[in-house]
Amino acid sequence: MIKLLSHLSYVSITAPDVEASVKFYEEEVGLTVVDRVDGRVYLRCWGDYYAYSVVVVPGDEPSLETMAWRTSSEEALDEAVKRIEAAGVQGEWFEAHKIGRAYRFVGPQGHPMTLHWNVTRHQAPGHTASIYPDRPEKRSKVAGAPRQLDHVTVAARDVDEFAKWYNEVLGFRIMARTVLDQAPISVFSVLTTNEKSHDLGVVLDGSTRPGRINHYAFWVDTYEELLIAADTLMERDIPIEYGPSIHGIGEQTFLYYREPSSMRIELNTGGYRNYVPDWTPNTWKPSLGSSNMYRNGAMPMSMTESFPAADGPSATEEGVPDEIRDALINPYTTTG
Ligand SMILES: [Fe+2]
Repeated sequence: MIKLLSHLSYVSITAPDVEASVKFYEEEVGLTVVDRVDGRVYLRCWGDYYAYSVVVVPGDEPSLETMAWRTSSEEALDEAVKRIEAAGVQGEWFEAHKIGRAYRFVGPQGHPMTLHWNVTRHQAPGHTASIYPDRPEKRSKVAGAPRQLDHVTVAARDVDEFAKWYNEVLGFRIMARTVLDQAPISVFSVLTTNEKSHDLGVVLDGSTRPGRINHYAFWVDTYEELLIAADTLMERDIPIEYGPSIHGIGEQTFLYYREPSSMRIELNTGGYRNYVPDWTPNTWKPSLGSSNMYRNGAMPMSMTESFPAADGPSATEEGVPDEIRDALINPYTTTG
């Protein structure tokens, strides 16, 4: 199979109060607004190469409107669409803002996805143009502002099936997965279209709502910048949900916090680079430190919340059955 996808290009999320979210992204995260069209607000990190990387859209609840990948060529886009439709999923072509021809579809477990080849490269206005040719614009003056969009992590009822479909149909490499210590249940997996550990993650979803998102993430250049971001978040009374620490899987330094809609965002940096084309996925256990390589910090229960909120009698409020949630949160006390 030819290489179909090259990288995550933008994430579009809904928010009940778009202006509150946009203000937060501008002032606290360090993004800039580039366009406002029909209530949709387009934002970017200072180091993103294209016109935008985040879209905030009006909606009743925080949710994933779409996650968009750029293909490797025009031919790769057509081939990807052919493969999606051959797999029994029917999407539609549409004109995406500053992109043009794009294809959107809903994956087998309900996740909206967009694929495109065309882009508009960012042209910084004079006062924000960098003195350095490699930079799309000047470095942000907001402490710890991310350089680029990094990855998105969704929630799915069958983690292994999810990974298999995106691997077989779209060529994502499956890098690793986490299986519970107590039972053969996959609770997490990471997939990538490039050398990073992941640009698509998936966590187990025990809710009855398909297509949920757990978080999306930005990249900061250095460990020190991530710690400065943590410091300034604390001083601005913005709670850090989890971290800073280092994931075992992927080995990125991370921290998570929430924007006003309650959507979880992550900052991360570091981690391995992996170019191995025939990679065999590693299997982790929570007790090995899959989420926290130091094995000394329990993940807060709130981290199992995905968006929109769970519903239905079979789900807990957080959308994950009790026994799985307990195993994820307290792996160090439940295993030898
Ligand atoms: Fe993440």
